[in-house]
Amino acid sequence: MIGVLDSGIGGLRLCRNLRQRWPQEDFLFLADQAHVPYGSLSRQRLLDILNANLLWMKGQGVQRVVIACNTASASGILQQPLSGLEVQGIITATCAQAAGLRRILVLATPFTAQSHCYRDELRRISPQSEVKEVGLRQLASLIERMADSEEITAYLQQEIGRFAGRFDAAILACTHFPYVRPQFEQILHLPLIDSESIVPDWQPQIEHGALRIVTTGNAAYLQRQMLQMLDWRWPCESVQIEKE
Ligand code: DGL
Repeated sequence: MIGVLDSGIGGLRLCRNLRQRWPQEDFLFLADQAHVPYGSLSRQRLLDILNANLLWMKGQGVQRVVIACNTASASGILQQPLSGLEVQGIITATCAQAAGLRRILVLATPFTAQSHCYRDELRRISPQSEVKEVGLRQLASLIERMADSEEITAYLQQEIGRFAGRFDAAILACTHFPYVRPQFEQILHLPLIDSESIVPDWQPQIEHGALRIVTTGNAAYLQRQMLQMLDWRWPCESVQIEKE
């Protein structure tokens, strides 16, 4: 079984794509909505939370995990492997889509922007690239609470309107952000790159094609988000995960 982890509804898009690609795999998606937004947490707190989540997933029978969250991928969790669990982040594969571009705008959570993981990886693959990283403090939370389009547009206009047309591409470096792709397009007039079509370099297993969707928050709310934001009706469970 493959586990897919995010702080909320963001990583579910990547999970849905993976499932379409590997329909016979079993998936467990964990939305850690008790702790969203991850992007405002300290590194140590985030690592503690992620370790508890990974341990819980392992206990549910997961062998491989996609961290469908840029913030978690930037936290250092990939450098602290949990025995018996194969864990993959999304930053390297997202940056690979920008290879050869010169001027790149990276739009992320404050945590991801401050980690400079994107700048470092983009410069590693294209040493000449100029990278501007911007942390959008409120956007993941606005998306989690299903803020209306006008509110999102006003927020983005104020935060990133000045970057319109000034880069070769913008990376939506938070898995929540593609939910508001039309508003980014309208404001930035730039090609957009995101993490949602990433496929890990794994051999898919022949299992039952099961999907379990779990939240540490409110299951009814996640179901409502899925219906409204993805037009997807699916049962969700609420779980409590003990943090040390
Ligand atoms: N979706 C996450 C990311 O890709 C985290 C958003 C948040 O919880 O701050 O960074």
